[in-house]
Amino acid sequence: MKLKTRNLLTLAELTPKEFSYLIDCSISLKKDHRRGADKPLLKNKTLAMIFQKPSTRTRVSFEVGMYQLGGHAVNLSSSEMQLSRGETAEDTARTLSRYSDCIMARVYEHEMIERLARGADVPVINGLSDAFHPCQILADFMTIKEKKKRLKGLKIAWIGDGNNVCNSMIHGAALAGADMYVATPRGFGPDKKVVREAQKSTLVDLVTVSAAAKDADVIVTDTHSSIHNRDRARIKKFTKYRVDSALMRTAKNGAIFMHCLPAKRNREVTPSVIDGPQSVVWDEAENRLHTQKALLVALIKNS
Ligand code: CP
Ligand code: NVA
Repeated sequence: MKLKTRNLLTLAELTPKEFSYLIDCSISLKKDHRRGADKPLLKNKTLAMIFQKPSTRTRVSFEVGMYQLGGHAVNLSSSEMQLSRGETAEDTARTLSRYSDCIMARVYEHEMIERLARGADVPVINGLSDAFHPCQILADFMTIKEKKKRLKGLKIAWIGDGNNVCNSMIHGAALAGADMYVATPRGFGPDKKVVREAQKSTLVDLVTVSAAAKDADVIVTDTHSSIHNRDRARIKKFTKYRVDSALMRTAKNGAIFMHCLPAKRNREVTPSVIDGPQSVVWDEAENRLHTQKALLVALIKNS
């Protein structure tokens, strides 16, 4: 399928059909990989990866994904690039486009990824900005589909900070037709524009922790303090937003627990939940690999 978008800066750039297509391709690439039958779909293609911030999953899954597809990835820390000495994002992207077939960047300000996309002649993928984390949510919905066999009509509860991952999850819920219940402390809600837009196609409700978790199919949380948050005192406002076993018991039987990782145990989630039988966090982390492979193939083949 030819995607309408050249880049993936946010999931709002995808149509529901494209979102579902990428998830199905990811499931099929995972099967190929499991039976040792990876196809060299990106033979001789190169991905340039720029990191302004630390990463474990994003960095390794993109690099290994390119390798499994017969291509190659170049890892670039922005502090070692001329970017750190004032070269513009646009000039950087224009240069990298002459050497590589795709650029993935993890940035502080979302505007930075938009500027890279403006300068690039190749597709640009957002590997996390202060506002969105689209690659994570592709993996999350793939994981939900694997576990629940469907997406439409599921109740997803987000508990904690209405951050970049939450904003992208709301985009994902709108694309999948899932119901999204978000519980955050006052002043820490998701982006209002994202919520308004998503409400045009699905149910998005800002509620209390107990209302969000009750009868949920999926309970999701994330750190209470993202890499871009400078104010460490904020975490005091989140003490009631911890996912524990008592909260999990109010969800549906067979509900799953998700977290994009890295996690702080006993802060946003107790060990009994994240290390317990309902947790799918390791499948979720693995699925970053498969969904990003599907995304890379779709974007690079299209360009
Ligand atoms: N979930 C996620 O993006 O992890 P990393 O920060 O390790 O890349
Ligand atoms: N919300 C977190 C996600 C890390 C993968 C952050 O931005 O640090």
